[in-house]
Amino acid sequence: MNLTAYGQGCFGVNINGKNLLFDPFITGNDLAKAKEIDVDSIPADYILVTHAHFDHTADVERIAKRTGATIISNWEIANFYEKMDLKTHPINIGGKWNFDFGTVKYVTAVHSSSFGDGTYGGNPGGFVIWGEGFSFYHAGDTGLTMDMKLIPMTCPKLNFAILPIGDNFTMDMQDAVFASDFIQCDKIVGCHYDTFGFIEIDHDEARKAFANKQKELILPEIGEAFTV
Ligand code: NI
Ligand code: MN
Repeated sequence: MNLTAYGQGCFGVNINGKNLLFDPFITGNDLAKAKEIDVDSIPADYILVTHAHFDHTADVERIAKRTGATIISNWEIANFYEKMDLKTHPINIGGKWNFDFGTVKYVTAVHSSSFGDGTYGGNPGGFVIWGEGFSFYHAGDTGLTMDMKLIPMTCPKLNFAILPIGDNFTMDMQDAVFASDFIQCDKIVGCHYDTFGFIEIDHDEARKAFANKQKELILPEIGEAFTV
């Protein structure tokens, strides 16, 4: 599967010719600015939003307006963008829907969710996405939670998972290793690290934490297209 990392929780994934974009946060991300990421050239047919925090929603409106992408998120976030006349598909925890690129299930994240102005952003979540020959999980922002054990019970075997590893606001790398056990997945793409001072990490230490358990941790450069 072909992915592009845009920093923090933002990833582009191409599935069967459809461009999925997770948690767009380019504007205001100094690391993305340093890599000269151009918000206005990022492709999107669908924008999947895990929760309302600014470091996941900063560019949702701008990209959705340009591309006409459908925003997939919880009821409250979908409603927020619906009022801007943007295309949305609301979903909620434990529910799934079949889209033209595959199935999306919205799963538990243990975190919070509000827009910058304090508007309630519903319950935060993660996404499990699967279809013919693929299955992956974007955890969004979350602490380690036993609910992750439900994923291998209820979804097809994951090929890879995008997990936060930066600590302070989410799991740290050690808890993310436990999470990878809970979801029964040995190929992890790290996210939500280095963006702010609170979440700077030692990359070698993080890779080693996973390697010690015979797991692979991928830490893509911002702007890097990579295959998982
Ligand atoms: Ni957050
Ligand atoms: Mn965040």
